[in-house]
Formats: sequence, C-alpha cells, structure tokens
Amino acid sequence: MRITTSHHGMNVQAPAKLNLSLLVLGKRPDGFHELDTVMVSLQLYDTLRFVSCQSDQVSLQMVGASAEADSIPTDDRNLVIQAAKRLQHSANVAIGADITLTKRIPSQAGLGGGSSDAAATLVALNQLWNLNLPSPELHRLAAQLGSDVNFFLDSHVAARCTGRGEEIAPIPISQPLYFVLIKPPAGLSTGRVFQAWKSKSQSGLHTPLQDVIVSRLQSNSLFQVSQGIHNSLEAPAVELSEEVRTTLSLLKQQNLAAVGMSGSGTTCFGLCSSWNEAKRMATKLRSQTKSRVWAAKSGI
Ligand code: C5P
Repeated sequence: MRITTSHHGMNVQAPAKLNLSLLVLGKRPDGFHELDTVMVSLQLYDTLRFVSCQSDQVSLQMVGASAEADSIPTDDRNLVIQAAKRLQHSANVAIGADITLTKRIPSQAGLGGGSSDAAATLVALNQLWNLNLPSPELHRLAAQLGSDVNFFLDSHVAARCTGRGEEIAPIPISQPLYFVLIKPPAGLSTGRVFQAWKSKSQSGLHTPLQDVIVSRLQSNSLFQVSQGIHNSLEAPAVELSEEVRTTLSLLKQQNLAAVGMSGSGTTCFGLCSSWNEAKRMATKLRSQTKSRVWAAKSGI
C-alpha cells in the first residue's frame, strides 16, 4: 500500500492481489481450508482517505458512484468498519474517523479488494490515532478479519501464503509481472466456491508445485512462472459459473504464456511477456467481450 500524510489526514492506495497458484490441501476441523498459495500484489488500487473526528464514531462513505460501489454496504458488514472497530477495541481508545473509499477493485472477483481495504485501515488508523500497536498485534487483528488481510499488511510484492492464507512468507522479486485481466459481470462468493471444492478433483497435486513457482520467481526467470500456474478452486468456480468457463476459454485462444483464475474467481488472467503485450491484449479482448478487461502489472 502507498500512504501519504497531510495535516488533514491520510490517503492510502490499497492494491489488489492475484493468486498465481492456489492449492487447497484439505478441509480443517475449524471449517476453513488449508491453503498453499502464491500471491502477487497488483498495481490496481482502491483509494481510502482517513480523517480523525471528535466523536468515537467511525463512518464510511463510498465515492465514485457505480453499480458496484452502490452494492457494497458501508455499515458494520464492511471490513473497513470492522477493522477500525477492532483497532479501537484492541487499543481501548474512543477516537473516531471519517473514511472515504474510492472503489476501483471489483468485488466478488478474487482480487482481495475488501481485504486490502481492511489492511489499509489497520495500518492507517494505527498511525493516525497514534496507537503504536506492534506488527504482531496488527497481524492478529488482520487474521480475525479474513484470510487474505495479512498478505496486504506488510506490502509485499509477492508472498507464499499458507495456513488459512494468513501465514505469510515474502518472495523477493525484482522484475514486474504483466497481466491481462477479465472480470465477468457475475461474481462468486468465496464461501460457496470453497464449499463446492472436492478433494478428489486434484489428485496428484501437492506442494512441490509451489516450490517450483517460488524458485522461478526468485531466480527472475519470470516467464517460466507460467508452468506453475494452477488453481484448485478453478474447477468448482467453473461448475458454479458459466461465465468463468467462457472467460477462461476466451483467454486460452489468445496464445498467452499461461491462463489462470485468481482466488475463488471470477477474475481470470493471462500472463503476458511485456507491458506492451498486456495493453495490446486488453485492447483486443475488449472488442471480444462485454466483461471488464484491463492490463495490470505486479507491484505495491
Ligand atoms: O477468510 P475469509 O472471510 O475471506 O473467507 C471467506 C469464506 O471462504 C470463509 O467463510 C470460508 O467459508 C471460506 N474459506 C475457507 N478456507 C480458507 C479461506 C476461506 O474455507 N482458507
């Protein structure tokens, strides 16, 4: 995330993420699934503005009205409000904030927008309210908010995430990755996709596949990363959404290095060899689909 501070408050650019690979290893006794996933941060941002207020109230306003932004709740159901309240409770303070959120990352898209907004809230309000909560406490709160929130807290460009997704091991990469992304109109609920996952659908896959992708990212043979792209949730997402199936098949016709789905969908992506190819591909695909299409590169 990128933070700028002024005497009026703080602005944060909260990035999206993309799962290069995602292995579901099994269902856990707590109902969550054990994961081994490699995530990269994307230069596609929501913008949050934080201003302290006199009361202990936390308010959230969405700006940039769009059908998407309109359908997102601004009350306690929003992870931004939940993050602010968890901070107030953890630090035992009665300070409030007025928060404005400009939504650009589509929701129910597998791009982690809500989780990134929550991580931005934890980091920004910890600073704005002078709470000085240490990093392990912010991580504890992040894990309570959702499985993807921890990844965004420390602004890693890439990381291998295990456990529920909340245990983060950064992967240093020095060159960006380029993608073309397609988000079909339909979204999918993460919970529904995990429910539809069946262990038998991935026999033969195990974590060494992740070791391959991590070592290729580290050795900067970035193009070879394509061979590690896999998502255990792709089959259940295709089962639940015809739009995911048609989006993946459109991408597979394009002679891209690799094609995949991010998180629990519905965003699908193609790995491109350069920024120019990603932009060219986005222009071409826009003429072939009514879905939202854009080019994005990795970065924080
Ligand atoms: O953690 P988060 O709130 O983002 O997860 C949303 C839902 O996705 C969970 O309620 C759970 O049903 C499912 N999930 C899972 N295993 C994970 C992460 C999420 O089953 N590791």
